[in-house]
Amino acid sequence: MTLDYQPSQESLSKLTPVLTKRWLSPDAWKIDVYERLDGYTALRKAFKAHPDELIQLVKDSGLRGRGGAGFPTGMKWGFIPQNDGKPHYLVVNADEGEPGTCKDLPLMMADPHSLVEGVIIASYAIRANFAAIYIRGEAVHSARRLRAAVEQAYAKGYLGKNILGSGFDLDLVVHSGAGAYICGEETALLDSLEGYRGQPRLRPPFPATHGLYASPTVVNNVETIASVPYIVLGGSAWFRSMGTEKSPGPKIYSISGRVNNPGQFECGLGVTLRQLIDLAGGMQPGHELKFWTPGGSSTPMLTDEHLDVPMDFEGMAGVGTMLGTTAVQVFSNQDDIVYATYRWIAFYHHESCGKCTPCREGNYWMVRILHRILAGQGTVLDLDTLLDACDNLLGRSFCALGDGATSPVTSSIKYFKQDYLDYIEGRKTPMFKGELVGAH
Ligand SMILES: Cc1cc2nc3c(=O)[nH]c(=O)nc-3n(C[C@H](O)[C@H](O)[C@H](O)COP(=O)(O)O)c2cc1C
Ligand code: SF4
Repeated sequence: MTLDYQPSQESLSKLTPVLTKRWLSPDAWKIDVYERLDGYTALRKAFKAHPDELIQLVKDSGLRGRGGAGFPTGMKWGFIPQNDGKPHYLVVNADEGEPGTCKDLPLMMADPHSLVEGVIIASYAIRANFAAIYIRGEAVHSARRLRAAVEQAYAKGYLGKNILGSGFDLDLVVHSGAGAYICGEETALLDSLEGYRGQPRLRPPFPATHGLYASPTVVNNVETIASVPYIVLGGSAWFRSMGTEKSPGPKIYSISGRVNNPGQFECGLGVTLRQLIDLAGGMQPGHELKFWTPGGSSTPMLTDEHLDVPMDFEGMAGVGTMLGTTAVQVFSNQDDIVYATYRWIAFYHHESCGKCTPCREGNYWMVRILHRILAGQGTVLDLDTLLDACDNLLGRSFCALGDGATSPVTSSIKYFKQDYLDYIEGRKTPMFKGELVGAH
């Protein structure tokens, strides 16, 4: 960032450091420092409440899942059947595979105990005595730090038998995956955790009744669970004082691309892209905003017309996209929209698990058509074929990976058809020579 850049007071006032408040404290990942900074006080408070009161508190807070879909967390916990005689499980989704997303891994690096504390409270609420954190295999640094935090928590009596004399027992395991985007999909994650190849399961039955080892299971994102201790300490009204009525609370937005100071910015839900770019030090010199994703590549892209739309679940739905993981990727007039779309579809093609035909074949063909267009060999009909392929993917795939793969294609053609025509009609120099051979 240029040293003299100063975000406006209005943008600065949008910052709400809650989950990120300890990130700059030296050694906050060590348990002693965490305890000095109020760590594990929410757990003590939670143990004084009945588990059902905690579920109600989370319902009242309006917390919505931070993994992409925004499902109400308290409601999800409430689906777990009680007195069913089966073991219950909490599984934390730390796969963080959505392109552009970078919030869960930094959270686990900077403040792993906030997640561990959230896991204990959530497990107590849903009556689970075993919890697992499924972390992306490549994230060795975050996994190492998390495992150290779990060890420290065991040593201090926050995990194991009769935690803090409460009579509640909990074992927590950190499990590293092998690095597959599909293993972030909750049912594929459960299969992978059980030792099978990670592929989505047919639903219903849902994980709430038939999850890990066919027992009642809550699967929640890292940021969702890490929010819980703050809700226990601050209360639902405090949580609702941030964000918007239907999308309450703070949210970690990760912003990357053509800005001067990319990174994580925690704001109340409903901040705008204009304010986020300002917080991120403005656009890089010589770059003008052209297109951006609000929540990873699976969320339809937007343009400079949408700089002032509130970035909450409702605001993004209102302009035909989704909030997703709040992975804001900023592209400029110097970036090639057709190439970016090609790269994204190459990703979906590579990560498609192959279980269902629309996604397996649709992505195979889309990546080839996009390559052909970039090679200067496309025709106008190729655009129709791309849209037709998307029509056969969206709502017809077995899981949301297939749906998400259509977003870059349909939204880029909607807003930037001319850029495709420039390749097709020879106004732009081809990027590739010849046909695509091999995978992509
Ligand atoms: C292909 C695919 C990848 C996903 N990857 C992640 C992920 O990395 N992390 C995550 O929390 N949710 C991911 N999800 C969403 C999960 O299926 C699930 O909705 C989420 O973990 C629920 O947690 P939440 O209610 O706290 O948001 C993914 C979904 C799909 C379809
Ligand atoms: S949509 Fe794709 S990732 Fe999902 S089950 Fe079908 S092939 Fe697998």
